[in-house]
Amino acid sequence: MPQSQAGGTSRLPRHVAVIMDGNGRWAQRRALPRHLGHRAGAKAVRATVEGCARRGIEALTVFAFSSENWQRPGEEVDRLMQLFVESIDKEIDELHANQIRVRFIGDLSRLRDGLPERIAAAEARTARNKRMTFYVAVSYGGRWDIVEAARRLARRAVAGKLDVAGIDEATFGAELQLHDAPEPDLFIRTGGDHRISNFLLWNLAYTELYFCDTLWPDFDDEALETALRQFARRQRRFGLTGAQAQGHE
Ligand code: IPE
Ligand code: IPE
Ligand code: MG
Repeated sequence: MPQSQAGGTSRLPRHVAVIMDGNGRWAQRRALPRHLGHRAGAKAVRATVEGCARRGIEALTVFAFSSENWQRPGEEVDRLMQLFVESIDKEIDELHANQIRVRFIGDLSRLRDGLPERIAAAEARTARNKRMTFYVAVSYGGRWDIVEAARRLARRAVAGKLDVAGIDEATFGAELQLHDAPEPDLFIRTGGDHRISNFLLWNLAYTELYFCDTLWPDFDDEALETALRQFARRQRRFGLTGAQAQGHE
């Protein structure tokens, strides 16, 4: 059975994964340039990080920039990269003071302009923090993650260090970017679209999906609470019957 148990209705998720979508439309509605929507979006991240940590959630993963987002206009990409640099500089002291461990997942080899150094420093500085782990997915794609894992296993097999017959879901999962996190219990996508957009494809297998129309810059603690209440009402069955799942409570 997946790490979280079947059944149960009043439980807090251990791990929340969020697609923070709608920054561009938030800006457009105000006749502002898209990059100001991203700025407002970066500000909104704080409420969700604090809200999750305060409630005792163990892990929060946010999708900040996808593999496909590299194809956006160069100026928007540049502005976003600059915003990531500024956001790390601005937020890292407080994250550390709040005992939050920060980890970045994705194809970080594509990042430039001081970002890799800041990421390494932020991860090293917060590595021993225990209250919550905050995963930031940058240059991340779910398919990329799976292909990378396959590549690593293949390399070990070719080198004679891995018995192919021994590859199972656990060995595969151990090679994925979120190998050190519990499976996401709750997925949230803001911005009104109902799709996964190449986020955590493997890890979302049994995650409860929650979609809301709120644009990401407007997603506040009340919006988070609404998502958590809705999660608490769901019955997770993991393939079992409802009665079986209840027996697991
Ligand atoms: C999400 O907001 C942030 C990123 C993808 C970087 P969008 O920029 O996708 O906002 P919309 O979907 O165009 O409104
Ligand atoms: C998903 O949003 C990626 C992030 C929020 C970082 P997109 O706006 O890129 O997704 P699509 O293009 O609408 O599927
Ligand atoms: Mg979008």
